[in-house]
Amino acid sequence: MRIGDIEFRNLIALAPMAGVADAPFRRVCADLGAGMTTSEMIAADINLWESRKTRQRLRSWGKHLPHITQIAGYDPEILAAAARRAQAQGAAIVDINMGCPAKKVCRRLAGSSLLKDPRLVRRILKRVVESVTVPVTLKIRTGWCPASRNGVVIARIAEDCGVSGLTVHGRTRNCKFNGVAEYDTIRAIKGTVTIPVIANGDIDSPEKARAVLDYTSADGIMIGRAARGRPWIFSEVKNFLSSERDENSFLHLPSVHDIILNHLDSLYSFYGESTGVRVGRKHLSWYAQYQERADVFRDRVVRVETAREQLELTRAFCNRFSHKASAERVRSGRERGGEDDQQKENSQQEEKEGECSTACYGSSKQAVECADRRSVTRLSH
Ligand SMILES: Cc1cc2nc3c(=O)[nH]c(=O)nc-3n(C[C@H](O)[C@H](O)[C@H](O)COP(=O)(O)O)c2cc1C
Repeated sequence: MRIGDIEFRNLIALAPMAGVADAPFRRVCADLGAGMTTSEMIAADINLWESRKTRQRLRSWGKHLPHITQIAGYDPEILAAAARRAQAQGAAIVDINMGCPAKKVCRRLAGSSLLKDPRLVRRILKRVVESVTVPVTLKIRTGWCPASRNGVVIARIAEDCGVSGLTVHGRTRNCKFNGVAEYDTIRAIKGTVTIPVIANGDIDSPEKARAVLDYTSADGIMIGRAARGRPWIFSEVKNFLSSERDENSFLHLPSVHDIILNHLDSLYSFYGESTGVRVGRKHLSWYAQYQERADVFRDRVVRVETAREQLELTRAFCNRFSHKASAERVRSGRERGGEDDQQKENSQQEEKEGECSTACYGSSKQAVECADRRSVTRLSH
């Protein structure tokens, strides 16, 4: 899988998400199978790049995957300077954000509001592409509003200007995050350009990933919100899409317990204890959302101030479910009584393998099924 001259192990991508997809979370997702991750959006004005927040957003932190820096702005020269600086600071790819509907970004005709002005889009892309030697990619929505879905026009301009890859979120700017994503425009874009196209929007299960790929013929998919609190979705999607998939592959994930504790450790070392604990609180709330009766944990964990307290609470939270689920498994085994030896062996093995991953959250497959029930797999409307 190539974007420009950069090789990716797969195009199952973690979406750039400001305030979520920081370097530690990107690392967690990469460890769990994501083949591509992008930095949180960075304002193109390089005079602001010395702030602590931007420096943290620029850091690649670990050499897992090619580092993609995303920039947002509206002025071709400012964006070109930002792209040059990003390259100098180690970006393997520079991604331009024309998908963000946030008022803060759109008021200045940046993010997705640029889609209103294809001529400006052309000037920006041309200028940025000629300013760097690394590949430039573009992230867009399907258009400005449902009445003007000009994604295909923008995609043609992008290819024409030398952009190496395109991610398309199947909503218009005016749709914000409302309703369901539509994939017809993504399919039309894929049918128009020859550069790689990554489909994005509402992909929250392996089955949905497969369906979106089949429908759009896109080269890859990007997952955003569904990865919050469920980064193992990348492993599940990867296994599901793999032709040699093992039906039991869901059980082979490292335990959820370990994933969460390693994530917290990464946050402490990346941000330092105080900020790390604060950032950890929101991720723990997301991890907890897949667990019933997690309210008490959530209430307490958002108040803790030290890494020690946060780790203790998290361990206790995971263990509570681990012990409960183990007890239930033992009881149901005794009740079954007559199960044959093979079944017994299987459940012992499952107990060993599942540990906290199945016990703490139900299996990650259950989490997917649960999310599937919430999601609507509608591909066109
Ligand atoms: C909290 C949050 C922050 C986001 N920040 C960015 C960003 O910095 N850059 C960007 O291009 N898109 C951003 N997005 C949009 C996502 O990359 C993605 O396109 C969108 O969430 C749709 O994908 P999903 O349905 O899988 O979540 C953000 C989305 C969310 C929910």
